[in-house]
Amino acid sequence: MEVIVCLLALVLSACEAQVFFQPEQVHLAYGAQPSYMVVTWVTLNHTNTPSYVEYGIDSLSWVVKNSGQKEFVDGGNETRSIFIHSVTMTHLKPGERYMYHVGGPLGWSDIFYFRTMPTNTDFSARFALYGDMGNENAVALSSLQELAQSGSIDAILHVGDFAYDMDTDNARYGDIFMNQIQPIAAYVPYMVCPGNHEAAYNFSNYRNRFTMPGGSGDSLFYSFNIGKAHVISFSTEVYYYYSYSKYGWLQIINQYKWLENDLRAANTPEARAQRPWIIVQGHKPMYCSNNDGPTEQCNNLKGNLLRYGIPSLHAFSIEDLFYKYGVDLQFYAHEHSYERLWPVYNMTVCNGTESAYDNPRAPVHVITGSAGNREGQTGFNPEPYPWSATHSDDYGYTLMTVVNATLIDLKQISIDKGGKVIDHMMITKEKSNPGFDCHLHHQRALL
Ligand SMILES: [Fe+2]
Repeated sequence: MEVIVCLLALVLSACEAQVFFQPEQVHLAYGAQPSYMVVTWVTLNHTNTPSYVEYGIDSLSWVVKNSGQKEFVDGGNETRSIFIHSVTMTHLKPGERYMYHVGGPLGWSDIFYFRTMPTNTDFSARFALYGDMGNENAVALSSLQELAQSGSIDAILHVGDFAYDMDTDNARYGDIFMNQIQPIAAYVPYMVCPGNHEAAYNFSNYRNRFTMPGGSGDSLFYSFNIGKAHVISFSTEVYYYYSYSKYGWLQIINQYKWLENDLRAANTPEARAQRPWIIVQGHKPMYCSNNDGPTEQCNNLKGNLLRYGIPSLHAFSIEDLFYKYGVDLQFYAHEHSYERLWPVYNMTVCNGTESAYDNPRAPVHVITGSAGNREGQTGFNPEPYPWSATHSDDYGYTLMTVVNATLIDLKQISIDKGGKVIDHMMITKEKSNPGFDCHLHHQRALL
C-alpha cells in the first residue's frame, strides 16, 4: 500500500512539473494601419524565447517577432498565470491571402490564413455580428466557423459577453472559450467589446486576452476603418461598473472624450466623404423590448445610463453624442434575442424619407445577443415599444454588408430554423453625413 501511495505521489509531482509551451487560443485583430494584422495567442507557461510569427503569400518565408510576453495573473484563488503573446505583422500587401503560424523554438501552431483588406475603400465589407455566446450552448458556433474558413466574411464583431464567464474556474473558462473560437478568430479579425460577463477583477481577462487597435490601449474602446465604414467599439460597462475604481467616473469621462475626438475626426468633410458610414458596437442597449424587469435596460428608459448619462447631471449621454455626430448604425447585445428598431432618438421614432430606412432621421439600433450561452433566451414584453420594428428569440447571428457609400444590407440568420434569413433590412442614404433632424421634426420626449 505504501509503495502505491509513493508511486501515486511521484506521478502527481511529475504532472505538476509539466510545462506547456504549445501555442493555443490564436486570434487575429486589425491593427493601427490597413497593412497591419495583429495576432495574439497563449502559452500556459513562459517560453523564455521571443514570440515568432512566420508568414507569407506562398510560403512561410517572412518572420516577425516580439521579444516580450505578458504574464496574465487571474484574480481567482489559484492566482493562476497564463502567458499572452502578441505580434503585429506589418507591410502586408492589400487584398492578398496570407498563410501564417505562431510560436517559436518550443512549438508552433497549425498553419492558418487570412485575407488583407483591399487598398481602396471601394469594396463591400462583410461582417458577422453577435453577442452573448458562451462556452456551453454556443449554438451559432459551427455556422460561424464555416463562414470564417470559407472566406464568406471579412471580420467578426463580438458584441460582448464571451465565456460565461472568462474568469470561471480560475480563468480556465476563458482558455476554453478562446480555443473554441480559434477556428473563427485565427482566420478573420475578431473585433470585440466588453460585456458585463467580463466584469470580474476589473475586466482583467478581457483586457489581457484581446489586442484591439489604439483607443484605450487595453481594448475597452477603439476604432478602425474598413471599406466605406468607420467602426467604433466602446464599453457600455463603464456606465455600470464605475464603482470598480475610485476613478470610475473618470473612466466614463475619458471614454466620452475619446469618442468625441474620434467622431470629430471621422466627420471632417474629407473623412466622411471617404467613409460615409459610422457604425458602433457596445454591449448593453439603450432601447429594447425584453421583459428584463423594471430596473434593467429595457423597461427603465428614463434611467438608462447610456441615454441619460451620469445620474442627476444628465452629462456624457452616449445617445446624444452619437446623434450629434451622425452615427448611422448601432449594435448592442446583452438581451438574448434579436431586435431591430426604427430610427430612434430620445424615445422618438424618426423614420426616413421614402421608407423608414431611406435617409433615416436618427440612428438605427439593432440588438443581436442570441448566439447561444447557457442562460437561455430572453422573452419580450407583450406590447413592444413604438420604436420596435421586429424581434425574435431564435438563436442566431447577424450578417452585415457595407455594400457601398449609400447602402448597408443586414440579415438575421436563425440557427433554430436551419440558417434561414428571418429578417432583412437595407439602410440607404444620399448624404455622407446624415445630419439628423429628428429633434426639429418631433417633439422632444420627456427624460
Ligand atoms: Fe450581458
